[in-house]
Formats: sequence, C-alpha cells, structure tokens
Amino acid sequence: MAENPLGLDLASAAAALRAADALLITAGAGMGVDSGLPDFRGPQGFWRAYPALARLGLRFEEVAQPGWFRRAPQLGWAFYGHRMNLYRATTPHAGFGQLLALGRSKPLGYFVFTSNVDGHFQKAGFDPERIVECHGSLNHLQCCEPCGEEIWDATGVVVTVNEETFQAQPPLPKCARCHGLARPNVLMFGDATWNPQRSQAQEARLHHWLARLKEGQSKVAIVELGAGTTVPSVRFFSEGAVRDLDAKLIRINPREAEVPPGEIGLPLSAAEGLRQLCQSLKLDQVRADGHPLAADVSRRQTLRLQLGQAMRGSRQGIKDSGNSPRGEWGAVDQRRLTSAATRERTVMAQSPMAPCFESCATSLESTAALSKVPPP
Ligand SMILES: NC(=O)c1ccc[n+]([C@@H]2O[C@H](COP(=O)([O-])OP(=O)(O)OC[C@H]3O[C@@H](n4cnc5c(N)ncnc54)[C@H](O)[C@@H]3O)[C@@H](O)[C@H]2O)c1
Ligand SMILES: [Zn+2]
Repeated sequence: MAENPLGLDLASAAAALRAADALLITAGAGMGVDSGLPDFRGPQGFWRAYPALARLGLRFEEVAQPGWFRRAPQLGWAFYGHRMNLYRATTPHAGFGQLLALGRSKPLGYFVFTSNVDGHFQKAGFDPERIVECHGSLNHLQCCEPCGEEIWDATGVVVTVNEETFQAQPPLPKCARCHGLARPNVLMFGDATWNPQRSQAQEARLHHWLARLKEGQSKVAIVELGAGTTVPSVRFFSEGAVRDLDAKLIRINPREAEVPPGEIGLPLSAAEGLRQLCQSLKLDQVRADGHPLAADVSRRQTLRLQLGQAMRGSRQGIKDSGNSPRGEWGAVDQRRLTSAATRERTVMAQSPMAPCFESCATSLESTAALSKVPPP
C-alpha cells in the first residue's frame, strides 16, 4: 500500500485481528491524547497541562494524593474537578468507534482494560459490562472516610474550579450518608482509602471471560493503545495476557512501541494506528456486506433489558415481603440471572451466531455470580 512509508507491520497486525475470535483492548493515557486530552508524561508534560501546579511546584505524584482532601480540600478538588469537567466536555476520537465495530464483529466479543479514569469508552458506546477501569473512574465518587456508604455515580455533580487560584469553589461534593467530604473513586498515590469494589466487580467479569477463552483455546488479539512505562499497569496486563492466552499483542504507541519478541509494535498515535488498521482490515466493507452485527447488537440490548427487569423484579419481591433489601439482593438476583442465562442458552443453541449468545449468557452468569448488585 502506498501509505506505509515507515514499513510498519500493518499486514501482520491486520491478519492477527482478522483471525481472532475475541478482542482484548487495553489502554493508557495516550488513548485520550488524540481526543485532545493531556497525558502526564514526566513533570514537564504534566506542568504544561497544569501551569498552576507548576507554580506550586507540585508534580503529578504529589498532587494525586488522598491527603489533599483532608489538608486542603479545595486544592484536591481543583485538580480532580478540573479533570472531571475536561473529560465531560471532550468527545472521544474516531478510533474508539472503529475499535468498537471491530470488537462487536468478533464472535466471542471484546473486553476493555484501561487505566484511564475519563469514562471515554462508555461515552463512545462500549458496553459498561465489558470495561475494567483498573484505577477507578472520575465519573464515580466515594466518601473520604470508610463510613459504609457505597460508591455513587457523579452524574449531575458540579465542581466549579477557579483556574487562576486553582481552588475549587464550595460547596464541594458531600457524602449522603455521613455528610463528610466526598472524593473521586480514583486510585491515587499512597491511597489506603480508595474503595476498590467497583473495579473489583469489573475485574471479576473480565476474569470470567478470560477463563472461558482460555478453556476454549480461543484465538485472542490484544490491541494496546497509549499505555506508558511510567505507571506500567496496562503494559504488564497486556504482556501477562499474551503469555496466559497465547494471544497476539499489537501495541500502538508513538514513542514507546517496544514489544516482547514475536509481538507487533506500531509507532503511531492511537487514532492514526486504528485508522490504518481498519483500512487494512476493510472493516467498513465487512459491515456493509451484511455481517450479522445488527442482529447481535439488538439481541444484546434485549438481554440487557431482561437483566434490568430481573434486578427490578427481585428488588420488588424483597420489598413486598417486607425484608430489608440490603445484603439480600445478591441471592435473589443470582437465582433469576442464572435462570435467564439458562433460558438464553436453550433459545439460542441453534442460532448460527451461537458463540455470540454464549458469551452474552456467560456475562449474565458472571453478573449473577457477583455477590452484590448495585442499586438502581
Ligand atoms: N484520560 C485519562 O483518564 C488520563 C489522563 C492522564 C493520565 N491518566 C492516568 O494517569 C497515569 C499516568 O499517566 P501517564 O500520562 O504517565 O500515562 P502513561 O504512562 O500511560 O503514558 C502515556 C503514554 O501514551 C503515549 N502517547 C502519547 N501520545 C499518544 C497518542 N497520540 N496516541 C497513543 N499513545 C500516545 C506515550 O508515548 C506514553 O507511552 C495512568 O494511570 C493514566 O491512565 C489518565
Ligand atoms: Zn460518608
């Protein structure tokens, strides 16, 4: 192809993606750069994004600490409130949609593992049940104290930041249970008070999916985007999955594209790498040719509705019987969800898309297996 002056290994990457039954997407801060978000490359990169913190001489590792919420809550919330507002105002770049189409085209589906806290995979339409946010999410809050309150959604929470003084203006977000200060449900440096429950539930779903892939000796491709070496959680995860699943890794990163022997490194930005890969894969053509993508998507939507109904039904049942819902949702939902999964298996056994529905049923079962179902 004329458009490959760097002699990139696009053909091998496209072949690995074409051959895969399942797609594992892993992403670090670089994935957001083409949407216009800063990554935090070293103190200079960080201070370019946050000149007010350069004036205070605070590096990323120093400002991203839970202690600020106690010592100087307006500064703690200035940093996270600014990021919350920025992530809300930013639209994920086109590569997200291309990745989603690719993931949906795989018979065993996709999963996302990201250290980003911006919620952009959800914003771009990825199934929230198929995302792990290993460092938490800025779209969710928790209490600064372990008062017993669960993690809650930050939709509608407004934080106003004075960019001159780099102070968040009161009132700051509060915990509904103890009325103390709230903080983002994001893992910070030296963070003993982070509530990991939401991320752990996401990880349980991922591990269930990975175990099924391993059991079935499925072909897995990993596309890793913008994951750096400074906080290497995502790179380690990708490389571990290569060994564990005998998967193929395609690492897209303009500056840190080195890979273990036998894997593929593409020194491109995330948006450009995905654009070139999709061009090699002729992804649009595959979809226009009548791949049963739409049927799959609508089936999955029906499944999600059933899941919601099962949850609501079980809560209503508990209310009607006069029992306290807390602690009992798990058991009731588990029964209903497991039976929904069994029904799915029976109904869909004859379908040519059986593997897709198998993975839907599996995700129903893994949801059922989680002991806690979040309130509506
Ligand atoms: N949007 C977010 O949620 C966000 C933003 C910044 C940092 N963080 C988090 O903070 C931690 C440290 O951040 P960090 O900046 O050191 O992250 P990092 O260590 O993941 O480094 C960023 C990586 O992205 C690469 N990169 C730069 N531009 C790119 C592009 N256009 N396309 C693809 N890759 C590109 C860089 O070469 C580097 O390897 C991580 O956990 C990260 O996820 C999150
Ligand atoms: Zn509280």
